[in-house]
Amino acid sequence: MIELVHVTKTFQNSWTALKDISFELEKGEFVFLIGPSGSGKSTILKTIMMEILPDEGLVKVAGFGSDCIKARDVPKLRRKLGVIFQDFKLLPDKTVYENVAFALEVTGAPEKSIHKKSMAALNEVGMSHKRHSFPYQLSGGEQQKSAIARALVNDPFILLADEPTGNVDPAGTLEIIQILKNINAKGTAVLMATHEHELVKKMPHRVIELEAGAIIRDMPGKSHYRRGSHTENE
Ligand SMILES: Nc1ncnc2c1ncn2[C@@H]1O[C@H](COP(=O)(O)OP(=O)(O)O)[C@@H](O)[C@H]1O
Ligand SMILES: [Mg+2]
Repeated sequence: MIELVHVTKTFQNSWTALKDISFELEKGEFVFLIGPSGSGKSTILKTIMMEILPDEGLVKVAGFGSDCIKARDVPKLRRKLGVIFQDFKLLPDKTVYENVAFALEVTGAPEKSIHKKSMAALNEVGMSHKRHSFPYQLSGGEQQKSAIARALVNDPFILLADEPTGNVDPAGTLEIIQILKNINAKGTAVLMATHEHELVKKMPHRVIELEAGAIIRDMPGKSHYRRGSHTENE
């Protein structure tokens, strides 16, 4: 589904942001990508979106390859991915509903389906009652929930979340995590980047840990993706 094979990326300032990164994400997996600020988390997410292409190695996403993807195919790939950010990136002059509906409008979705799908996505994150609010009228948690609805409305196979709780209070953070779990339970894969190690410690999911652009740990999930019922550590 998603595979990085010996990916290396050096920026023009000669800083090597990613060093020989290899991992694979399975369909429907929930994975945390952790590491301190500057360790390469956002750069990995950008290589998956093919916003950044590796200098060496290969990124494979949903049948597209970083070695051969055409510029005109990049929007096609993006449409298969849901993405949320620390700063939400909601359009400030549109309501919550309009932000979500807009993500469908730009794909040329039929008029009839736009309302139905937008409302379903807003219901899923518990934001339909605030659909007529503008982003500035909402808390950080509410803005992120709206951004999640927008990311889900095109039915992506994976949600990429870059520090989604960075501007959200502790109660909102738990809510966001719960929403991501619910989305994952319905079959959408989730790759969440965060520097908040404490948040991740209590979770049963796979954790990929970065340090200075390299993977220092890739720990399988404790229960979710295990075949059979034995529980010893892997
Ligand atoms: N466009 C860029 N140009 C130059 N350096 C960059 C660029 N993007 C990221 N970097 C550098 O690459 C490293 C990894 O960045 P990033 O992936 O954003 O880390 P993280 O998301 O883990 O905080 C940092 O040192 C950062 O300064
Ligand atoms: Mg980052």
